[in-house]
Amino acid sequence: VRDALIELDPARGDLVGQLTAGLKAAIRTGKLPPQTRLPSTRALAGDLGVSRGVAVEAYEQLVAEGFLVSRHGSGTRVARGAAAGGRGGPAAGPAGDAGTAAAPAGSGTGADAGQPRYDMRPGTPDLSAFPRSVWLAALRHTLATVPHTALGYADPAGVPALRAELAGYLGRVRGTDATAAQIVAVGGVAEGLALVTRVLAGTGHRVLAVEDPSAIATRELLTGSGLDLVGVPVDSHGIQVGALAATGARAVLLTPAHQFPTGVVLSPDRRAALADWAREADAVVVEDDYDAEFRYDREPVGCLQGLAPDRVVHLGSVSKSLAPGLRLGWAVLPTFLVAAVRAAKHQADYCSPVIDQYALAYLLDSGRYDRHLRGVRRRYRARRDALVGALAERLPDVRVHGVAAGLHVCVELPGGCDEAAVAEAARGRGLAVVPVGDMRLAGRDEDHPPALVLGYANVPEPRLVEAAALLAAAVAAGRTGGTGRDQRLSRSGRDA
Ligand SMILES: Cc1ncc(COP(=O)(O)O)c(C=O)c1O
Repeated sequence: VRDALIELDPARGDLVGQLTAGLKAAIRTGKLPPQTRLPSTRALAGDLGVSRGVAVEAYEQLVAEGFLVSRHGSGTRVARGAAAGGRGGPAAGPAGDAGTAAAPAGSGTGADAGQPRYDMRPGTPDLSAFPRSVWLAALRHTLATVPHTALGYADPAGVPALRAELAGYLGRVRGTDATAAQIVAVGGVAEGLALVTRVLAGTGHRVLAVEDPSAIATRELLTGSGLDLVGVPVDSHGIQVGALAATGARAVLLTPAHQFPTGVVLSPDRRAALADWAREADAVVVEDDYDAEFRYDREPVGCLQGLAPDRVVHLGSVSKSLAPGLRLGWAVLPTFLVAAVRAAKHQADYCSPVIDQYALAYLLDSGRYDRHLRGVRRRYRARRDALVGALAERLPDVRVHGVAAGLHVCVELPGGCDEAAVAEAARGRGLAVVPVGDMRLAGRDEDHPPALVLGYANVPEPRLVEAAALLAAAVAAGRTGGTGRDQRLSRSGRDA
């Protein structure tokens, strides 16, 4: 390893990060070829003049990422194929980079036999981009600094440091208008939604309006809420506020920054109309801000909460920015709901994990969260560009919606295509995508143009280009595949 020229600069801090990066670079460039046996952590630490813990952590991280393999008795070696980028790296093979998790947003429970080679079901960020060394530093900082008294049951609303950081961060980045006292730390948007709907049901609400189409998984979360769901159509300006008013519902859940799944941004007129409706109907608007930190071509669109802080519950999380598995999020509440949601949180699980809350507060305070976001935003933008470019080349007659933000696009297929048949043909080619019809409240219908949702965040550029070619082949098959549906559509003249 000394020959691999790893040099650590204590002045730059984060020795684990430096060592990890140095070893990765040595593996990638072939200075440490596959199967090379690495020195023991003790010997390496001695060579480099660092504590053994630094070497242990760097090895552990590289094992987790697939660059190294560690076997009891035979030490630590460079993994076969590691030069291609580790398990989640940019040039990793199909099983690694397409993501292994089911995609909650579009695909219901996501239970699925066999992992598709190209998993473009929406919902998962690039998990290989998780800032491990930054999170480690945050945990280390937390454990070195919090008093033991902080490790008991905390305030159900969250630890004060995190709520204060969130109030500042969300105000700056999302335009929220709220103090720390209005924030409750929750286990993701999912828990925020469960708590808020429980409170709404407890205060006499019977109906919750939701966007049609909308995420199946989110709607599934609401089956136990005691509220009946009623769908409100979404058009190219977002949710139809007139139709919402006609439902008689006094609560609505929506995704204004980047509608899931259509990708539409709620227009300024509709925002104003929604705020007016909420005030007139004494209603509650629940804003699911699930992917709003990712905006590529324009200034971020401020959140709804900033427009009507007395009416809007704003829900967000680190699921897209860091990782869904952290289960960390926030609810920004109108003052009149704070006590009830805090009590519901207490009743649900006392409080969210305290050490993780402090770690997130540290990330926000130190600027490392912003820095990480800048990096992943660049990465996702490049992926979006690759996908949109490849679709334009391979499928010039599709329309791609929702490209300005988020981690997925909505691809409107030419009339006459059967979206389910295309998705099935794609699946047969190893490409998993989700038909929009699956996300409509009444199921598929023939009144809407066929469309598919494609998540691109977890798939590197070259594979997105391949995926576009597979989709083009699937569209060709879906057009001429001769399923009953296709023929029916043809006879009704929609594929003229
Ligand atoms: C539209 C939408 N809302 C909410 C969520 C869930 O977010 P969380 O992980 O914060 O519970 C997702 C997850 O994919 C989503 O797509």
